[in-house]
Amino acid sequence: MTQILAKEQINEAAEILKDGGTLIFPTETVYGLGARYDDERALEKIFLAKGRPRDNPLILHIYKEEQLLELVQEVPAGAQLLMERFWPGPLTLIFKKRPEISSIITGGLETLAVRMPSDKVALELLRQVDLPIAAPSANLSGRPSPTSEEHLLEMMGRVDGILLGGDSRIGLESTVVDMTRTPPILLRPGQVSLEELEEMLGEVELYGDKNENYASPGLKYLHYAPKTPLVLLQGGDEDLIRFIEKNDENCIYIVKESIFRLCGESKCHLFYPKDDINYAAREYFRLLRTLDTQSYDIIYITEIPILGLGRALMDRILRSTGGRTRRLE
Ligand code: TXA
Ligand code: MG
Repeated sequence: MTQILAKEQINEAAEILKDGGTLIFPTETVYGLGARYDDERALEKIFLAKGRPRDNPLILHIYKEEQLLELVQEVPAGAQLLMERFWPGPLTLIFKKRPEISSIITGGLETLAVRMPSDKVALELLRQVDLPIAAPSANLSGRPSPTSEEHLLEMMGRVDGILLGGDSRIGLESTVVDMTRTPPILLRPGQVSLEELEEMLGEVELYGDKNENYASPGLKYLHYAPKTPLVLLQGGDEDLIRFIEKNDENCIYIVKESIFRLCGESKCHLFYPKDDINYAAREYFRLLRTLDTQSYDIIYITEIPILGLGRALMDRILRSTGGRTRRLE
């Protein structure tokens, strides 16, 4: 049985976690599926509930810096700088773990991912539990991360509790940076951008640039792709408009406002009203879930500039196209 709790019931939610149960809770990025970090039976339940591969490690969530010191061997100077600027917030840092941290959390790695969320409900929950909470995103493995309450329905019966918190403010998962490497490696782009990281740290390496053999286990798993093929359309605005006007496939185009205005809502879905990248990021996972309920033969999505949050959004788009692109000349 899954207990549904409103955000006024944080204390009941905290009891579920303390008792070794699993709880879905809101964060500013996406909903997380948590269990206490020191209870292996509880941790096992996370993997079972999601159908998650065992070698994909979990992020520990904390509410104060003192908790970090109990988990990791050292806090490098660069990490300290990032924590002062971005915690609490959508930034996960990878440290060398203490030997006593369960290998169920780290998937057998010697490193550990930690983040301090900024969502008020999440922080209050973590404060009341007063223990680090291991939590991946609260989706079934292979599905888009949940960013609103209705996305949690599929988890009913799979977890002990769900703490409701409305829509996720950011809608894409946190930025992940490996601070055990010099230079640090950006493993997963998020709202804390590459440009901001470089400003604080100097050089930051991009995952995949020079480190093909390096493993962040989660990156090798295919992210959610809708059942209908999703294809990235590359080309200038004029090429796109010409293509949309001529093409007679049973399809939809996910586009920015200038193209939407010219090509119309019968063919297009407006993804960036007023070119607002924050809006598009917030809507992306919801959009993927919606598109799966529709009956197009193909879904085209157009490119966005790889800058700031745009890098994170393009990363998630590329993962869900599975590499399918169509270049217009
Ligand atoms: O925004 C978020 O980070 C959300 C909310 C719930 O906090 N959580 C989340 O967790 O996205 P998850 O499990 O879906 O993604 C964690 C990512 C995976 O790609 C995983 O491989 C990577 O972090 N990761 C975790 N520990 C790692 C480690 N020790 N070394 C390298 N990568 C690690
Ligand atoms: Mg996930």
